[in-house]
Amino acid sequence: MLGKVLFSRIFTRFTKLFIAITVLHLIFLVHFFRSYGISKGSSISLPVSYNNELDKEAQETLVSKTKERFSKVEENPDRFWLTRTELVHTNVEVPINRYINPSAEDAWDKTNELFYDPRFILSIYLNELKHSLDTSKERPTLPFSWADWIDLTKLNDELSKPMEERMDCDVLRLNTKKKPDTSYFCLNNAELTDDMIQELGFTRREQLPGFVIFQHSTHSHKPFNDFRVLEAKSYALTFLPKPLKVMILTGNNDNGFYEFLVDPNSNGRLATTNMVSKYLQNNNIVDNGAEDYSVTFDHIREYRELIKSHPPSTVSVHHEPVNSFDTIEENKSKNQSTNIVLDRSMFRYSKDQVVDQIHEYESKSATGLSPEEYQYFMGLKMFNDCSAQGDEIRHFKTATIRTDDDKNVDNDNGWHYDWRFFNGALNYDRRGWSKAEMSERTRIILERMIRTWYMFSRKTGIISWIMHGTLLSWYWNGLIFPYDIDIDIQMPVSELIRLAKHYNQTLVVENPEEGYGKYLIDVGTFVHDRDITDLNYIDARFVDVDSGIYIDFTGLSTSKANPPTEYSNTEYTNISKPLNDDTVDIYNDRRKHFYVFDEISPLRYSMLSGSPVLIPNGILTRLKFEYAVGLESMEFNDWFFVPVLRLWLHKNQLIKHLYPNMKESFYKNIDNSKIMKAITSLSKDEIASLLDDDAILTEYYLTRNLTTLHAWERYYLFGIVDNHVPEIKNHENPKDSYNQLTAKFKPIYPIRKNLFEFEHFDRLHHHIADTF
Ligand SMILES: *[C@@H]1O[C@H](CO)[C@@H](O)[C@H](O)[C@H]1NC(C)=O
Ligand SMILES: *[C@@H]1O[C@H](CO)[C@@H](O)[C@H](O)[C@H]1NC(C)=O
Ligand SMILES: *[C@@H]1O[C@H](CO)[C@@H](O)[C@H](O)[C@H]1NC(C)=O
Ligand SMILES: *[C@@H]1O[C@H](CO)[C@@H](O)[C@H](O)[C@H]1NC(C)=O
Ligand SMILES: *[C@@H]1O[C@H](CO)[C@@H](O)[C@H](O)[C@H]1NC(C)=O
Repeated sequence: MLGKVLFSRIFTRFTKLFIAITVLHLIFLVHFFRSYGISKGSSISLPVSYNNELDKEAQETLVSKTKERFSKVEENPDRFWLTRTELVHTNVEVPINRYINPSAEDAWDKTNELFYDPRFILSIYLNELKHSLDTSKERPTLPFSWADWIDLTKLNDELSKPMEERMDCDVLRLNTKKKPDTSYFCLNNAELTDDMIQELGFTRREQLPGFVIFQHSTHSHKPFNDFRVLEAKSYALTFLPKPLKVMILTGNNDNGFYEFLVDPNSNGRLATTNMVSKYLQNNNIVDNGAEDYSVTFDHIREYRELIKSHPPSTVSVHHEPVNSFDTIEENKSKNQSTNIVLDRSMFRYSKDQVVDQIHEYESKSATGLSPEEYQYFMGLKMFNDCSAQGDEIRHFKTATIRTDDDKNVDNDNGWHYDWRFFNGALNYDRRGWSKAEMSERTRIILERMIRTWYMFSRKTGIISWIMHGTLLSWYWNGLIFPYDIDIDIQMPVSELIRLAKHYNQTLVVENPEEGYGKYLIDVGTFVHDRDITDLNYIDARFVDVDSGIYIDFTGLSTSKANPPTEYSNTEYTNISKPLNDDTVDIYNDRRKHFYVFDEISPLRYSMLSGSPVLIPNGILTRLKFEYAVGLESMEFNDWFFVPVLRLWLHKNQLIKHLYPNMKESFYKNIDNSKIMKAITSLSKDEIASLLDDDAILTEYYLTRNLTTLHAWERYYLFGIVDNHVPEIKNHENPKDSYNQLTAKFKPIYPIRKNLFEFEHFDRLHHHIADTF
């Protein structure tokens, strides 16, 4: 899948001097790897360096120009606003009468329109938590409505119309491919009984749109993008099941969090509960009775007060061995190894254990099950019933959309969004948005998501590692590819079951001091079966509820599945086992990937885009096996890896600087091999020109420290020298140095803005013009 690369060409450009240095390195590295055993078993011959040597002038330009331009960035926060990622707009003024005065004409519980502001919601809930914890040590149970926690205000257009002018199921039908009968997923507003409306938490039917979605419309019934968005919002407003609990992460690299259970019996939107009045009471705010009376909410203040009065909880109460991340922190403080050695038993699980587990919960249920236990128990029974009848049901459903739509610029068919939270395709031609803004949005979503997943696992000790395309992008520069749209993570089956037991249906909330991200943990019912399947090969997801983008989790375990012949006797893998044998230590996911223990363990502590992650032991051979030229190809779909900057830049972005006089209409005539040649032998003017580009400079500024650390890591792990990190050349005692390097890994402050401020403030204020 990766484009062909002209590796030999690059090689011919290496200077003699460089070859001499390389040989010296090789001698040293062979010795080093023998003694440390890092690349044991690897038969990959890698280039010792991907980097060209710059001529002396170019090298000097790189150093001086970088310094000069980085100070520019720091002196011009407004121009380089994307480099300022801290929260800014943390206060929100909310006209409070609409919440607390039921006789107000525009009271939120009576109006049709919806209100959303994450700062307001967090303020109310953090304050409520504080007061609950004042009176009781128990984990509180609070009302919850998706309408408060995700932005459904795109429905306001519809909700403000008179009923007879609103869109109904038939409009959806006409905009859906194959024009299906919609009755299996859509109800016209008039079809809802008054009781149903009450049950859904509303007082009048006008508060619901003309079409009420209660089910997924199947993958073959694809609506246009905007209609799929409205379907998701209508569902979230009405029938979307609530999470089991909400977990608000605290701190940056510790194991603290706050948690509350969601009251399953309340459909209370804030507008219908007394939480806002309680907030005012708690804060001694007296309503002055004025109609436009507003209160300023500051969730950061609430958060800090909560932290001060009630230290966050930790999971130490839950059973389980040691939190490996605690051990990593301890080891880091002593410059000791941060490798996590896994136990083979973590990869063993059999559906025969299901019946025993059911019995266990049955006998326990007399004395009472926790909400988590009860949910897991129901999952086991559901699994058991389905398996008995031989019918497996697809758990995860996606937001398929039409591709016969000019605005669907990438012909995205929607398979990588959770339909329930779909908020538009990543590269959809949105009115008022530039392409550059859309891609910044994607970067924010992916990087914040992996970061929050790390924070969650840091606190719970759940062990997982990046794999597939995510590992490949890590390999290059320790960042996520700028064109990526998803994240892949694996875990041992034991961890998957642990995730299901304790955290299924948990809404994980990003540390409020850093952003407003919210992610739903959803573990599929069929995780108990470890054989290959067509329907449920994704075991769990961490779904960004603001966009529908998710991390895919696959569990690895022994099973009766048989590795396809492509795994045996190849240069990179040699995996085979006796037919249907589930006793040998060969681990598979439920799709098609098979591994041996040493390819996974020990896991290494590393970094991806500023967040710690774990990576598997066998990287090169597996990546080579999975992506034939992925480790070598410095070009993919018109994106080029520019070694000097350690960044992937787009062809059109590069051409501007490499061929400054060329007209844009000629860009397409430039052969990729020409660009490849140019980026591996940049002149001093070209380097200066690249660094004069604000967009490139911003990215370089944000990532240079990270990619430098990664360059060191590549050196220790694979022996690849980066000749733009000169210090790498004087190097001794690599094993200790590797430990000293990983001791430096820790979550840095997010390198991207948070999505809420980006969308609601910065983008509107600054705009990012398309420059390529
Ligand atoms: C760990 O290594 C760093 C150098 O990277 C050194 O400054 C520090 O003193 C070391 N810490 C311990 C506990 O040895
Ligand atoms: C911590 O260091 C000890 C001693 O080097 C090592 O045995 C252990 O595997 C390390 N654990 C982790 C999780 O890094
Ligand atoms: C996780 O929760 C969902 C929703 O309640 C349920 O359908 C699923 O079976 C649960 N997964 C497991 C493994 O219990
Ligand atoms: C693969 O393993 C088999 C049996 O373990 C062995 O006979 C064969 O030589 C191996 N092939 C390669 C290419 O290493
Ligand atoms: C990169 O590291 C240097 C030295 O530690 C530090 O001064 C600088 O602020 C860092 N840059 C960024 C963008 O974080």
